[in-house]
Amino acid sequence: MTKPKVPLQVETIMQQSAHPGRSGALLIAVLIVLCPTAAAVEPLPEPPSAPGAGPLPEICPVPTGANPLRAMETARGFSVSSCSSTACHGGPKAGNHDVQSFAATLWVDGDPHARAYEVLHDPRSQRMARLLGIGPAHQARQCLACHSVQAESRAPLPKGVLADGVGCAACHGDATQWESRHFLPEWKMLSPAERASLGYRELGSPRERADTCVRCHVGASDREVDHDLIAAGHPRLFFELATFQRLWPRHWSPRDRAEAAADFTERSWAVGQAAALQAVAELLDTRAQRAVRAVEKPMAAAAKPWPEFAEFDCYSCHRSLGPNADVQDHRARPRPPGAPTWQPWYVAAALLLENQVGTESSAARELAAEFAEVRRLLDAGWADADEERLRRIRFEARGMAAAADRLATELSARPVVVLDGTPASFDRMVAARPDEWHRWDGAVQALLALEASRAGGPARHDGRPPPRVRSALEALRDSLRFPPGVDAPLGFDAERFQRARADIP
Ligand code: HEC
Ligand code: HEC
Ligand code: HEC
Ligand code: HEC
Repeated sequence: MTKPKVPLQVETIMQQSAHPGRSGALLIAVLIVLCPTAAAVEPLPEPPSAPGAGPLPEICPVPTGANPLRAMETARGFSVSSCSSTACHGGPKAGNHDVQSFAATLWVDGDPHARAYEVLHDPRSQRMARLLGIGPAHQARQCLACHSVQAESRAPLPKGVLADGVGCAACHGDATQWESRHFLPEWKMLSPAERASLGYRELGSPRERADTCVRCHVGASDREVDHDLIAAGHPRLFFELATFQRLWPRHWSPRDRAEAAADFTERSWAVGQAAALQAVAELLDTRAQRAVRAVEKPMAAAAKPWPEFAEFDCYSCHRSLGPNADVQDHRARPRPPGAPTWQPWYVAAALLLENQVGTESSAARELAAEFAEVRRLLDAGWADADEERLRRIRFEARGMAAAADRLATELSARPVVVLDGTPASFDRMVAARPDEWHRWDGAVQALLALEASRAGGPARHDGRPPPRVRSALEALRDSLRFPPGVDAPLGFDAERFQRARADIP
């Protein structure tokens, strides 16, 4: 039997995956069920002249009474159909700047999140669910936490709403209390705090965006992709905000937005890495907490023994993944040769962040120190699971999360974020700790940092470097692709990468 092919490929993060409009058909079907009038063009009702005066307009009336659709009513704040009527955000795509009127149309047509629920029906998901013994994937809480809007709601959501996938509410917040108000003149008078109290999430700044994305793209205490999921076939998660924003079809106008700033890409990279490191540290704390429980009460529901393999370098245990996977038998050898080190993707992010944003920042120095502590603990005696040690990991992880939070706040407040993407700065970093830069993960992170640092200059809405630099970066990126048919960076040559990197104009 062939083993599942795990897309641990550089393509996973580097390329826009082609998502043909299958989700469009699905969504339209859902729309018809939820909101029979959605197909008709309804003019937006005149807003009442005084704030709060008059009845609030019903955009998509929901049947009431003893109707099975009634359950939908409570779920309206989570449903894409509440936002996507033609009169609101589901209008036809137009070449004008009124993107608001067709934001939902763009989401349906090209957003990877629109098919997040659909993929739970794939054979791959079914197999994963079977191996994990969690029932059908599209009904498993464990999967729905990231592949739908369920995590935004305390009550279980109806299937019709889950089928939207990662719908509007997953990022914009539960709209129950603001859906019927956010287009009224009074809305503009509300302070951000008042809007937040209604469940509306601001997403204007890189920080707000990163904090939203990392919950699913890194993981959190209520949702995670651990080694059990990965071994069952889930792709390994990577996150870097600047790249993800570039790969993600935008459904808003960049004018007057974070995108309009000349340093948008650099700021996204720096703030995004700090926010991701915060999420990484918080997740480590959660995992260590579960491991403490496993020592105290092995049978407790929230207990899971240490080590959690997903915290460590995949390639220190796996020479390759996929059809010819070569897993060193960890159980036979308590410490495999070259005992695994802490996850190199985020180790590289922390080192690059320190290098790129400058050591004159006290928050950056603090994060570097906290991070080094966590790392020292995890790299030595990585598998040891006595209670004292786990508590120490928790303590240091919380310190690192707090420091990353402070750095993200400090970077957000800078009038301008400039990355020191000079060849000399990278060279110094590599020379200071040559052994850190032997891994593929670190090379990819270095490439993403280089791309972000080269995107500066006058505002470019696609956040991309000039063509000459772009083609040099493209060649560098090519050097990081996995060999055909292999799901691991076999044959990756770190020295060649560093030489090619130094040639980027
Ligand atoms: C912590 C959040 C999280 C959880 C929990 C989670 N996923 Fe995912 N899943 C993701 C993200 C994020 C991606 C996209 C990864 C990428 O491309 O960077 C993804 C991708 C996938 C893919 C590949 C999709 C594609 O287009 O190729 C499948 C299949 C999948 N998940 C199934 C599952 C199943 C089944 C479960 C439950 C057992 C699950 N996921 C749980 C976040 C999660
Ligand atoms: C993965 C996260 C995500 C999802 C899912 C999402 N959005 Fe957004 N949306 C954003 C971000 C980020 C912005 C930019 C906000 C800003 O710059 O103020 C945005 C902006 C918008 C705007 C412009 C807001 C304004 O103030 O001008 C509209 C309208 C919008 N989204 C509608 C939708 C609708 C409708 C859906 C569902 C069909 C949806 N979004 C799904 C993240 C998301
Ligand atoms: C509620 C969970 C959730 C949130 C919040 C979320 N995502 Fe996702 N995202 C997913 C899942 C699940 C997938 C995989 C969908 C699939 O392939 O079917 C995904 C896929 C993607 C992809 C495509 C990745 C690839 O390999 O092609 C990009 C880009 C992306 N998300 C960007 C973002 C950004 C940027 C944010 C924050 C503004 C964000 N996401 C917030 C769950 C989420
Ligand atoms: C400490 C060693 C160790 C680390 C670190 C580790 N794994 Fe594993 N992995 C194993 C072992 C052992 C198995 C065999 C299945 C089992 O018992 O869980 C396995 C199984 C797998 C499988 C199933 C493959 C198959 O042939 O059945 C995949 C895929 C996988 N790991 C991916 C990863 C990824 C991706 C990472 C990094 C995020 C990772 N592993 C980190 C030891 C490790």
